[in-house]
Amino acid sequence: MNAADDKTIVKEYFNSTGFDRWRRIYGDGEVNKVQLDIRNGHQQTVDKVIGWLKADENLAGLSICDAGCGVGSLSIPLAEAGAKIYASDISEKMVEEGKQRASQTLANPENLTFAVQDLETLSGSYHTVICLDVLIHYPQEKADAMISHLCSLAQSRLILSFAPKTCALTILKKIGSFFPGPSKATRAYLHREADVVKILEKNGFVVQRESMTRTRFYFSRLLEANRK
Ligand SMILES: C[S@@+](CC[C@H](N)C(=O)[O-])C[C@H]1O[C@@H](n2cnc3c(N)ncnc32)[C@H](O)[C@@H]1O
Repeated sequence: MNAADDKTIVKEYFNSTGFDRWRRIYGDGEVNKVQLDIRNGHQQTVDKVIGWLKADENLAGLSICDAGCGVGSLSIPLAEAGAKIYASDISEKMVEEGKQRASQTLANPENLTFAVQDLETLSGSYHTVICLDVLIHYPQEKADAMISHLCSLAQSRLILSFAPKTCALTILKKIGSFFPGPSKATRAYLHREADVVKILEKNGFVVQRESMTRTRFYFSRLLEANRK
């Protein structure tokens, strides 16, 4: 499968069965045990990012691009905390849901702008660019191009997460435990951390904070890279 096919499939998935599945996982209604595990793991990743940004004590007014924002799980709390967020996603349905959630919960909606956009067509300049749990949908070569593009938008730092290619995960993926359930319609790509760090460095960024979230079915390596 080539990278263009990956993108078309991902977009269609997140506008159809994937939308229904992930909207529930990223919500607070009843879900099955596997989905609950993924929900909890993802929330840990979101909480870590919010914790890092709050620890810097400069969140108010900070310009942030949330590329592949999903239903706004990160964008909404960051906007609430005072940051100026440009949130975009390739899936119209995810963006629609994000807008609806923001309108129901956000007291300061002027802090959050949503757009339907492929992250590779994003332009502009933001203090911080964030891309959580998106690269898993793309092979390394495509992920490299995406990371390079995101670096070009970031004045100061890029925060991204990916599923790390470790022996344990490779085996799990092989036996089909990764992204289990009948609606797993997209491929899940694992990435070697060394490859991700290499492309960040090639773009003039150096990793300064890192974290790993690991639950039974959710694995996400989180890196914060700053411009050198
Ligand atoms: C697993 S979800 C993660 C959503 C969000 N970042 C979060 O952590 O809550 C992956 C999201 O990436 C989006 N996505 C995939 N490829 C994309 C692309 N090329 N440009 C923008 N968004 C993309 C999907 O539509 C989906 O909403």
